[in-house]
Amino acid sequence: MSESEKKTTRETTESLSWGDAEPATMDMGHVRLVLSHPVVQAVSWIGADALRHQLMAAWLMVEENDIPMNPRLVGRPGLGKTTLAYAVAREMGREVYIFQCTMDTRPEDLIITPVIAQDNRIAYHASPLVTAMLRGGVCILDEGNRMSEKSWASLAPLLDHRRYVESIVAGIKIPARPEFRICCTMNDDASTYETPEYIQSRLQPQIEVSFPEKDAEKAILKLNVPYAPGELLDRATQFLQQAHHYDLPYNSRDGINILRYALKKSKLTGQGPDAFFEESVGGVLGSDGVEFLQGRVPTTPGDILMRPGFLDDDDDDDDDDDFFEGCGWDDDDEK
Ligand SMILES: Nc1ncnc2c1ncn2[C@@H]1O[C@H](COP(=O)(O)OP(=O)(O)O)[C@@H](O)[C@H]1O
Ligand SMILES: [Mg+2]
Repeated sequence: MSESEKKTTRETTESLSWGDAEPATMDMGHVRLVLSHPVVQAVSWIGADALRHQLMAAWLMVEENDIPMNPRLVGRPGLGKTTLAYAVAREMGREVYIFQCTMDTRPEDLIITPVIAQDNRIAYHASPLVTAMLRGGVCILDEGNRMSEKSWASLAPLLDHRRYVESIVAGIKIPARPEFRICCTMNDDASTYETPEYIQSRLQPQIEVSFPEKDAEKAILKLNVPYAPGELLDRATQFLQQAHHYDLPYNSRDGINILRYALKKSKLTGQGPDAFFEESVGGVLGSDGVEFLQGRVPTTPGDILMRPGFLDDDDDDDDDDDFFEGCGWDDDDEK
């Protein structure tokens, strides 16, 4: 990816108007709802503009009668899906609400939960999703594919032209404001349940997030660990790129943690951080990670075909040789 194709989203350091305030309330018919707080963070996302544009286009209204789409961001964990959605939504100037989906998420968790408040009265708490609907913000349903069909079913009317949800607990129907937008992230290794077809067809388009290329990966590491020395960033980048080459489940988040841990050990002991790189890989990725760093590809059927040299043509001038330097790999090592 060239420098011009890469883009860091605008820093989003400004505070939202009610970021630290008491929870706001809103009356819906006979029910007073206690609203959730938006997530306010300084987050930037690094990567190809194409992905940002896919998300922005899906959320765009072409004309008055159009409705926004509900994209799903799919890919391996730790590749920046949540970060991308958050950064784009903030770039569009919206409040962002994140709902973390789990296998235990119940329909009412997604919509309105009754809570015993002072004087034994019931307070109705609007979920981050419903708060986003009421305030015209963006909701990120994070890791949606962990959620059961029953929970998804409660969102079916929201995800088509009807754009409302019903709360059985509070006995009200809640329409989304026109500015409301939603997207869902899905880790492709983490399905607890099969997402039902009628929901999948409402979560369109699919936006695929894949492993970053070398320059982008280094920029991601640098963005998240700006105090890491250049050589350490290079070493971590090479290690991750080599892992992507073998399709191993190591990602930018792991790289960030490896750097942070090595730097903490360095600070504690006064030794250079490079001395702790291997230990840090072990701490974050376990013994498989260390063995990979030392040049052994985890055994999978046919993995011999994936060893360095087997894939490379003589006229292939890719950067593989650079991977082996400085990251424990040795081209002649037949281990
Ligand atoms: N493209 C990227 N730009 C900026 N930060 C990234 C990127 N990819 C990963 N990260 C960092 O890696 C970590 C994991 O990203 P996250 O968005 O939680 O991944 P996912 O949602 O795909 O599991 C975060 O700390 C994030 O800052
Ligand atoms: Mg995520």
